[in-house]
Amino acid sequence: MSESVKIDDLVKEPYLKVICYPMIDFNIAIKRVDELKSLKVNSILFEGRTKIDKLGVIGKGCVSVVVKASTSFGILALKIRRTDANRLSMKREAKMQSMANSIGVGPKLFDATDDFLLMEFIEGCSIIEWLKRIEEYKIERIRRVVKELLDQCYRMDKLNLDHGELSDPSKHVIISENPVIIDFESSSVSRRVSNLTKIVQYLFIGGPMAKKLMQILGIEDRKMIIESIRNYKREKDLTSYLRLFEILNLE
Ligand SMILES: Nc1ncnc2c1ncn2[C@@H]1O[C@H](COP(=O)(O)OP(=O)(O)OP(=O)(O)O)[C@@H](O)[C@H]1O
Ligand SMILES: [Mg+2]
Repeated sequence: MSESVKIDDLVKEPYLKVICYPMIDFNIAIKRVDELKSLKVNSILFEGRTKIDKLGVIGKGCVSVVVKASTSFGILALKIRRTDANRLSMKREAKMQSMANSIGVGPKLFDATDDFLLMEFIEGCSIIEWLKRIEEYKIERIRRVVKELLDQCYRMDKLNLDHGELSDPSKHVIISENPVIIDFESSSVSRRVSNLTKIVQYLFIGGPMAKKLMQILGIEDRKMIIESIRNYKREKDLTSYLRLFEILNLE
């Protein structure tokens, strides 16, 4: 069940616990409600499979709680910094996400403050749920999603933006009409990039559905994939990327 709560009411129980999770603090809540006003958030929609007490939220991680929000820009996702998060501000993540947005990657970022990120809400399922149901999809759809995901990773590699958490992307890629990479908190522009190699390794080598995906795409030789990943790692150019595409039967 969904419950819509105006932001001025967020300082009351039980909502207080969601805007300053996990430690309730009335003063922090008041400050955060002001920040939400500056972000033009009108109300929070408590819905989602994850629960904080009895309130539904979209997601909950080590640094944040994510909820659906009704704003002057429409329904968006609001990432709320946890009061026990290991960082003081969301602004670095916002900077990384807007870099990703510049090449068409990630949910579109609308605004950010120290405690909040306001971004496009992506309707869909996690890549792990999608992979588990892979046999239900048409081959064209599977090819298109995999191709698009690899392409986004290649574009991030070219931009020298390393996502940082794609070795296990199970919670960091949402499959909507297209795949959408989320959560840029660990991203960096000063690390060796390995987005594409990590995703290919997960999808075709080490991940839970690797064998199935190889079978569906008619790839017989795993060694060829490993070899072309190595080649791409060395060259990181369009030719080695296209060669990988060819080996994965994605053309
Ligand atoms: N823009 C979005 N649209 C829809 N759902 C989202 C969006 N952003 C995040 N989510 C959901 O919220 C969950 C938590 O988001 P995110 O991974 O960014 O938070 P986190 O605190 O960094 O988590 P973790 O500690 O796991 O890294 C995601 O797994 C996803 O299910
Ligand atoms: Mg995270």
